[in-house]
Amino acid sequence: MSRYTITAALPYTNGPVHIGHLAGVYVPSDIYARYLRLTGNDVAFVCGSDEHGVPITMRAKKEGITPQQIVDKYHAIIKNSFSEFGITFDNYSRTSAKIHHDTASEFFKDLYANGKFIEEVTEQLYDEEANQFLADRFVVGTCPKCGNEESYGDQCEKCGTSHNATDLINPKSAITGNVPTTKETKHWFLPLDEYESWLREWIVEGHKNDWKANVLGQVKSWLDDGLRPRAVTRDLDWGIPVPVEGADGKVLYVWFDAPIGYISATKEWAEREGKDWKQYWKDEDTKLIHFIGKDNIVFHCIIFPAMLKAEGSYILPENVPANEFLNLEDNKISTSKNWAVWLHEYLEDFPEKQDVLRYALTANAPETKDNNFTWKDFQTRNNSELVGIFGNFINRVVVLTNKYYNGQVPTPNSFSDVDEQTLEKMREFPQIISNSIERYRFREAMNNLMNLARLGNKYLADEEPWKVIKFDEERVQTVMFIALQIASALATLSEPFLPFTSDKLKGILNVTSSLSTALKTGSVENSWNGVSEKEVLLPANHRIQEGKAELLFAKIEDKEIQIQLDKLEATKQANEQANKVVEPQKETVEFDYFTKLDIRIGTILEAVKVPKTKKLLQLKVDVGLDIRTIVSGIAESFKLEEIIGQRVCVLVNLAPRTLRGVESQGMILMADTKDGKLAFIEPERDVENGESVS
Ligand code: MF3
Ligand code: ZN
Repeated sequence: MSRYTITAALPYTNGPVHIGHLAGVYVPSDIYARYLRLTGNDVAFVCGSDEHGVPITMRAKKEGITPQQIVDKYHAIIKNSFSEFGITFDNYSRTSAKIHHDTASEFFKDLYANGKFIEEVTEQLYDEEANQFLADRFVVGTCPKCGNEESYGDQCEKCGTSHNATDLINPKSAITGNVPTTKETKHWFLPLDEYESWLREWIVEGHKNDWKANVLGQVKSWLDDGLRPRAVTRDLDWGIPVPVEGADGKVLYVWFDAPIGYISATKEWAEREGKDWKQYWKDEDTKLIHFIGKDNIVFHCIIFPAMLKAEGSYILPENVPANEFLNLEDNKISTSKNWAVWLHEYLEDFPEKQDVLRYALTANAPETKDNNFTWKDFQTRNNSELVGIFGNFINRVVVLTNKYYNGQVPTPNSFSDVDEQTLEKMREFPQIISNSIERYRFREAMNNLMNLARLGNKYLADEEPWKVIKFDEERVQTVMFIALQIASALATLSEPFLPFTSDKLKGILNVTSSLSTALKTGSVENSWNGVSEKEVLLPANHRIQEGKAELLFAKIEDKEIQIQLDKLEATKQANEQANKVVEPQKETVEFDYFTKLDIRIGTILEAVKVPKTKKLLQLKVDVGLDIRTIVSGIAESFKLEEIIGQRVCVLVNLAPRTLRGVESQGMILMADTKDGKLAFIEPERDVENGESVS
C-alpha cells in the first residue's frame, strides 16, 4: 500500500466544464484515483475552482457583473456537474476560500523572508486609456518563440511557452486594442534561471524513462532556450493581495496562487477528515501526481516545482501525465465561441448516461496526440461496444441464469481445458489492466477491460449453453458458473472506468460494492486483486437479483444524435453571424446621379463559360428592351445549368466593355456575401422583363 496525492488542474471559473477538460484531465485522473483506492492505496484526490486571474475579470466585464458573482456562478455549476458525473474528488475546493488565501500568503511570505525573490522596479506594459497595467490575458502579441500572432502576455497557447509580457512582439491591449506604452512598477520575481540545472537533472535526466514524451520534449526545449526570472506578482485588483509592505494594489500572479490551491484543498480535506495534510505533501514516501492538459505543462513542470524547491519542505511530483487537446467535430473547442459539449448540458440531455461519455472520452483520449470527438463516434461506441459487447454479455448471462436456475448460481461440474483456460485468462486481467493504468495508458486499459467482456462473449458463443441445455444439463451448469465468474470480474474491474455501470452490475449480481468491502475488511474480498487471487468470485447457490433482467446500456437513436448536431450547427451559424463584418458605407452621391443608372429586370436565357477563365460566364439575357450579351464574373458561385431561367437585375446603360474578346453590354447586380459566394437579386413576384428598378 502506498500513499498518493493526486491533483487535477483547477478549472478556471470563467465558464462551465466541457468534454475537452474531461478527456484531458478529469476522466483520467478519476480512473486513476478510483483504481488506486480499489487496490488498497491511501489516496487524496484534490481539485477546486481557480477563481483568480484575468479570464475571470474579463468574463465579469462581458456579463456586466462582479468577478465574485462570476466565480460563485461557475463554481456552483462546475462543482455540481463533476459530482453528478461521478468524479470522486476527496475535496473540491476554491481559491477564493480563506484557507487558500492564508496558505498562498504564507507560502509567499516564506519565500520572501528567505530571500528567494528578486524585488525589482521595471518597465511594464501599460494601457493609458484603460489606466491599467497589461499583463497576462490583457495583452496579445506575437510569440517570440513560435511566431504565433495571438500569444498572451504570460503564455503562448500555440507552443505552450511561458514568457514575460514585455517579450511579446507588437503587443496590443486586449482591453482597448491600443499599442501599450510602458510604465515603471515594482514586482517580485522568482529567478527561474537559478533552478535551470536542477530542473534539467531532475526531469530531463531523472525522469527520461517514466514521463511522457510530449512532456519531456516541451520541458527540454524550454530549458535549452534558457530560463529567466519571472514576476510572480501583478498590478491588478482581483486576486490575493501581495502580503508584504509596500505592495498596495498588487496581487499574486494567478499561476503562483493556483497550484498552491492543491495544497489548500488537501488541508481543507484533512481538517474535515481528521487527517494530517503534511503526510500528503511533505512525506518522501508519498507520490504526487499532477493531471493536466498540455497548456499547463510549463507551470507544473517548471514554475510550481521551482516554487516547491525554493520553499524546501515539499515533495515534488512523481509524474505529470499531461494530455494533448480534444477537438469537437474537427474544430478546436472554444469557451468563448461556445464550441463545446458542456458537461452540465450533457447531463441534462443524457441523464444516467455518464458512463457512455466517460467511455467515449477514454476511448478517444488525446493521450499522445490531439484527438477528435464526434457525436457519430459517441453513438457507435455506445451501440456497438457498450451495448453490443459488454451489455450483451451481461444480458445473456443474467437471462440464462434466471431461466435455467431461477437466478441462483449453479454448482459446476468438472472443468474442461477450455474452462480452465478461460478462468486462467480472466485471472490475468487485473494485472494487464493495472499495467496500462500505471503507465497512464487509459485507452489501452479500457480496451483491455472490453477484452474481458469479449472473452465472456466468445466463451458463450463457443460453448452454446442454449443448445447444450437440450442434451447435457450438467455441462450447462459449469458453463454458466464460469460465465457468472466473468460477469463478476467485470463488475469489479469496470469500476474505475464505468463506475455507474459497475454499481448497477453489482446490484444485478447482488454483490456488495467491492470498494466498501475492501476498505472495511482490508481483505481482497471482491477487490481488484481478488479477481486473480480468489478461487471463486460468485459461489454456487448465490442468488443474483430476481426479476427480469435490467439492461446495462440502452441503444442511442439517430434522432438523439441529430439534436446535438443541430445544436452545434446553430452555434456555428450564430458565430458566423457575429463575425460578419459589414462593409463601411461609400461616400454619398446626389439623387440626379442615381437616376442616371438604368436598372432593369431580366432573365438569363443562355450561359457558357468564357474559355480559359475561371470566373467569367458569357450570358444571353432578356432585358425586355432586347436580348443582349453580358459577361459576368459569377462562374465560381453557380453551376451553369442552375442559372438558366434565373431572374436578375441588370444595369443596362453601363458603357459596353470588351472582356476576353467578348463585348459585354451591361452588368448583372449581385449580392456579395461574406462566405465569398455571390447571390442573385431577383424580384419578389413575377414581373416582366424590362421593368425598371429604382
Ligand atoms: N486554471 C488553469 C487552467 O484552466 C489550471 C490551473 S491548475 C493549477 O488552465 F495548478 F494552477 F491549479
Ligand atoms: Zn508560441
